Amino acid sequence: MTQKIAILPGDGIGPEIIAEAVKVLHALNLDLQLETAPVGGAGYEAAGHPLPPATLKLAQESDAILFGAVGDWKYDTLERALRPEQAILGLRKALGLFANFRPAICYEQLVNASSLKPELVSGLDILIIRELTGDIYFGQPRGRRTAEDGHFPGAEEAFDTMRYSRPEIERIAHVAFQAAQKRSKRVTSVDKANVLETFQLWKDVMTEVGQQYPDVQLDHMYVDNAAMQLVRAPKRFDVVVTGNMFGDILSDEASMLTGSIGMLPSASLNDKKQGLYEPSHGSAPDIAGQGIANPLATILSAAMMLRFSLGHEAAAQRIEAAVQKVLAQGLRTADIYSEGTTKVSTAQMGDAVVAAL
Ligand code: IPM
Ligand code: MG
Repeated sequence: MTQKIAILPGDGIGPEIIAEAVKVLHALNLDLQLETAPVGGAGYEAAGHPLPPATLKLAQESDAILFGAVGDWKYDTLERALRPEQAILGLRKALGLFANFRPAICYEQLVNASSLKPELVSGLDILIIRELTGDIYFGQPRGRRTAEDGHFPGAEEAFDTMRYSRPEIERIAHVAFQAAQKRSKRVTSVDKANVLETFQLWKDVMTEVGQQYPDVQLDHMYVDNAAMQLVRAPKRFDVVVTGNMFGDILSDEASMLTGSIGMLPSASLNDKKQGLYEPSHGSAPDIAGQGIANPLATILSAAMMLRFSLGHEAAAQRIEAAVQKVLAQGLRTADIYSEGTTKVSTAQMGDAVVAAL
């Protein structure tokens, strides 16, 4: 049966890197129907909204979504509901994409690109699992008002609500423990239970669910300590599971340890294995249109898509092997270039992956 993929390039370098991933998908000769729609700033330009109804409908009807990136400074002055970021938040909410997988892998060929000492990151392979549809990101109520109490009654104030329900924590816990079973059987749950009620419940539920996985070792860490340990001894981690806000911050930190944020894919899944796949980096409007962006994170996101949502494990492995091969050949986009390697453009990198397939 033909599988349908929504291709949402978005803004900045999004269209350039998506074009290379689409090349790779075509080269695999699978029975895939690719349909493109505007999102983010491009959605706003085309239809007056970052997530136009037709784009949302396409996403809902597809087996998977391949997403580029959204955002550009020129939309910073729009009201919040119209800003490009609302597209990705809206898709997460509408499709219930609660489980976000962000691997941070240090490729051996790029070990010197890390800002940490090579021995700290060589062989690094962490999987951050971020809860993606709850927490302070989506908690209601939120808004602005005049303070009735607090330090400055009568002053203007803004507020957001951090909240998690037990079932929300349970389902992401199961995702994390099951992922760990396929790896080195260790989970670190990151919380702030020493201060926040929300994360005391998080910790309690993680411990309870962990009892159903006696083969997996669970430890708990406060988020401030986790941020420190990530740069002190990152290899002590394997699977890290945390809430939406902490996961946003820690996944950026972890990605930078690898020295190659241009290499890192991500997946956001719902309970039907429908997923949105996107590079971990952003839209980089400063280099858009120059043909120098690294398409490998997007190409590797397409591999994750084939694996997790479309059931094409062999094709996923072929892509991953092809990426290893182009790195071994010494091909590098500007972001991962070092002396003695060959600098290539976005399109040349995509072509090289296709050739390696
Ligand atoms: C991410 C991004 C988003 C987030 C933004 C663009 C809304 O930073 O995917 O990590 O905060 O989740
Ligand atoms: Mg982020």
